[in-house]
Amino acid sequence: MHSLIKYALVTGASGGIGKEFATRLAADGWAVVLVGRNSTTLEAVKTGLAGANANAAVVLPCDLSVPGAAERLYAACAEKGLSIELLVNNAGSGVFGESLDLAPAALEAMVNLNVSALTNLCALFGRDMKARGSGRILNVGSFAGLNATPYFASYAATKSYVNAYSLALRAELKDSGVVVTCLLPGYVRTSFDANAGIVSEAYVKFSNANSLGAEEVADIGLEALSRGKASVIAGTRNKFAAFLFGLLPRTAPPAIMKPFLDKLV
Ligand SMILES: NC(=O)c1ccc[n+]([C@@H]2O[C@H](COP(=O)([O-])OP(=O)(O)OC[C@H]3O[C@@H](n4cnc5c(N)ncnc54)[C@H](OP(=O)(O)O)[C@@H]3O)[C@@H](O)[C@H]2O)c1
Repeated sequence: MHSLIKYALVTGASGGIGKEFATRLAADGWAVVLVGRNSTTLEAVKTGLAGANANAAVVLPCDLSVPGAAERLYAACAEKGLSIELLVNNAGSGVFGESLDLAPAALEAMVNLNVSALTNLCALFGRDMKARGSGRILNVGSFAGLNATPYFASYAATKSYVNAYSLALRAELKDSGVVVTCLLPGYVRTSFDANAGIVSEAYVKFSNANSLGAEEVADIGLEALSRGKASVIAGTRNKFAAFLFGLLPRTAPPAIMKPFLDKLV
């Protein structure tokens, strides 16, 4: 039965932006594969889905920060006969703080999740899409990946990777029938800051004051995807900031941000 249905696989579907992606895609008639670590939360998201193929949703719990996870997830889909037409690489995490003091294990898990898993999922599912001559990939990069970012140095660098990798993969797949889009959110009201270890009330206040809702950000990403755009920065203010920072030498944004962030952390 599954092989007749086209699936959208969403990583990090248990909360935040990913839950909104899954909810919207299901409402649009997609059958959704929900991926994350917490099976209970994923099952709850599945229960709340509505849409023509909501009943076909599948929960596949998977810790994508573990080496080999992308391969295991791909194999699980193959075993269930799930044909993935849309891959949404949304799962991601941050580690906040002075770079030299951060725990190596936390950094390694973040790089595995944000970089390795995303890359390997693109390759594994992208090959099938290319062979079929149709498919879409939506990668969640970040506004933070546009500039070197003090106290989020490694996280921002992983997102620079996502932003650049997505554009290059898109160019390689031109005329293949597979379209790659990258969404670059700025601050979004989710559990991301707390999960990144941000405890400063001043930072959270600033982040909240400048953030968009996860629903709006998911809509912006899906709109860009449906238009086949290469990338989209979520929010007018972020677009403007990206334009201004883009006019400066690459050393300037971190130098400008550092004293500003020092007041927040
Ligand atoms: N929020 C922001 O301000 C912001 C800004 C720019 C970009 N982004 C990007 O947007 C994406 C979504 O973030 P969010 O704000 O929605 O964060 P979030 O609320 O923390 O949600 C993260 C999602 O990823 C899943 N996840 C985390 N670690 C995982 C792992 N090891 N394996 C599998 N799934 C994992 C989580 O589910 P489980 O806990 O169940 O695994 C959860 O569903 C990320 O790529 C993030 O970098 C966020």
